[in-house]
Amino acid sequence: MDNRSIAILDSGLGGLTVWREVRRLLPDESLVYLGDGANCPYGNKSPDEIKKLTDAAVQELLKHDVKMIVVACNTATAAAIDFLRAKYQDLPIVGMEPAVKPACLTTRTGVIGVVATERSLDGDLFQNTARRYGEHIEVLTAVGDGFVELVEEDRESTPEAEIAVRRVIEPLLERGSDRIVLGCTHYPFLLPMIERIVGDRAEIIDPSPAVARRVEQLLDEHGLRADGESRKPDIFLTFAGEDYRQKLIDKAT
Ligand code: DGL
Repeated sequence: MDNRSIAILDSGLGGLTVWREVRRLLPDESLVYLGDGANCPYGNKSPDEIKKLTDAAVQELLKHDVKMIVVACNTATAAAIDFLRAKYQDLPIVGMEPAVKPACLTTRTGVIGVVATERSLDGDLFQNTARRYGEHIEVLTAVGDGFVELVEEDRESTPEAEIAVRRVIEPLLERGSDRIVLGCTHYPFLLPMIERIVGDRAEIIDPSPAVARRVEQLLDEHGLRADGESRKPDIFLTFAGEDYRQKLIDKAT
């Protein structure tokens, strides 16, 4: 038993899609969320810059008595997970897996589409996963241009969002993708719009429930589950000021 908190971080609001799954699956756990906000988006920054920002977020979270770190950001995972695991060896660290495997295993057309940030798509993690599972599969990729900004600015259901989502998703569908992998934690906030555009042409895969299950598995492996009687109120942190912190709270629930 361990009643310390699970820390979850992202460049901004996106990691809340993971936070929600963790909160649902593990109601006894205390959670601390940090959405940077001041430096978002991370998706087109250099790996070194992303490492520094992610490390600053971890440092901040460590002030809150945490037992595990969840890097709820595909971009930060791609750029910084090895660095973080080397630096914080005593702490279990969970990253985002690009959900290429389930897409490759279930596609019927043999074509899948992965939408993510620039930095995630050119990172080794995605490249290796795509090579490993996509040997006989055509793995198409697209940067979700403007998606993060739409979510950060609460514009998910606007006409601009529809244009942006159509521009990115349609070409993947036209080329035969029957699976669309959401490779950035911000994108599930656009799910209603993406679903409307995709219709029954493809299945959309959001890896956040699988990440929550991985957190649960690691808690069990390390004997870190909370006892269920001392859950602390959820904590939300940011580098972007009180208005943004309030936005995190509103968007989480
Ligand atoms: N939510 C993030 C991800 O999963 C980062 C988006 C960004 O800051 O560009 O990649």
